[in-house]
Amino acid sequence: MDVFSNIPRISLALLPTPLYRLPNVSEALAQEVYIKRDDMTGVALGGNKVRKLEFLLADALNKGCDTILTTGGAQSNHAMLTAACCNRLGLNCILVLKKRGVYQKLGNQLLNDLLGAEVRFVDTDTYKDVYAEMDRICDDLRAKGHKPYSVPVGGSVPLGSLGYALAVQEAVEQAARQGIAFSDIICTAGSGGTLAGVVLGARLFAPSTRVTGIVIDPDDYRGIVTRLVNEAAALLGSEVRIAREDVLLHDCYGAGYAIPSTPGVNAMRFMAQKEGVILDPVYTGKTFAGLMELCEQGYFAGRGKVLFIHSGGAGGLFAIDIDHPKD
Ligand SMILES: Cc1ncc(COP(=O)(O)O)c(C=O)c1O
Repeated sequence: MDVFSNIPRISLALLPTPLYRLPNVSEALAQEVYIKRDDMTGVALGGNKVRKLEFLLADALNKGCDTILTTGGAQSNHAMLTAACCNRLGLNCILVLKKRGVYQKLGNQLLNDLLGAEVRFVDTDTYKDVYAEMDRICDDLRAKGHKPYSVPVGGSVPLGSLGYALAVQEAVEQAARQGIAFSDIICTAGSGGTLAGVVLGARLFAPSTRVTGIVIDPDDYRGIVTRLVNEAAALLGSEVRIAREDVLLHDCYGAGYAIPSTPGVNAMRFMAQKEGVILDPVYTGKTFAGLMELCEQGYFAGRGKVLFIHSGGAGGLFAIDIDHPKD
């Protein structure tokens, strides 16, 4: 039975994304490593958020909404992809971004301009202020006869996480067609929704697969991910429930969120030079660095094949200086 059949979803991504073995990386690490190319989801420059938006924007359309608001940092991949997906669906989009990081017209800001997204900066470091501003904009829009829909940072709400439960189902089917299965899945924990979806998807479709999130932002992921997994499972009518201790994490944030790290930049060079695959300094470079550290520590020893989910990030790549990383 298709557990997702009762949940509205709109097709935005080009699926399935490729899944294949990384031969040169596998040889260098003495570990079988496969990649799921979710940097190739087919909207703008690709990335993980498109899968979440398939559920979130379907919900917005079902509720008759005409304007989508979302938020993130100045170089948010999520915000840019939300604008791109809104264009596909003919929805207005307002990006309410935190004024920190690179906000010149570089990287995702350049893409936001091309996409015609309305960008408003809030001069703050806390999402509390941003959400207050989003509420204010929503009130204004309602007063003008519009129907706004707010997507929280990263699209990391239970409904968005379902996109990654479905991604695991897709990966398990692709692997089965190749005659393989994965002992481990590694993905980024940014706002937590992707990891939560992958954890739920593994419980549903690959119960013996261990999922580990690589932490690229110091935050309480155990709490965030546990809540998202359990609430997303409830949406599906599934009885899967997890506890905080079930969330497996490895820290790789270095000096902090969006600050390039030496291991992250080295991992970017390693992947590019071994496989011709481009990672980014904020999310996927640090995540692959985490995978390499775990490998060195023997975390995968005696297990099996590891699947690395490449969640995108190309939009920010050209806005961030990788020549002076901090550890
Ligand atoms: C390229 C990329 N990878 C990974 C993530 C992390 O996903 P999540 O926010 O669902 O934890 C993000 C989030 O912004 C991202 O842009």
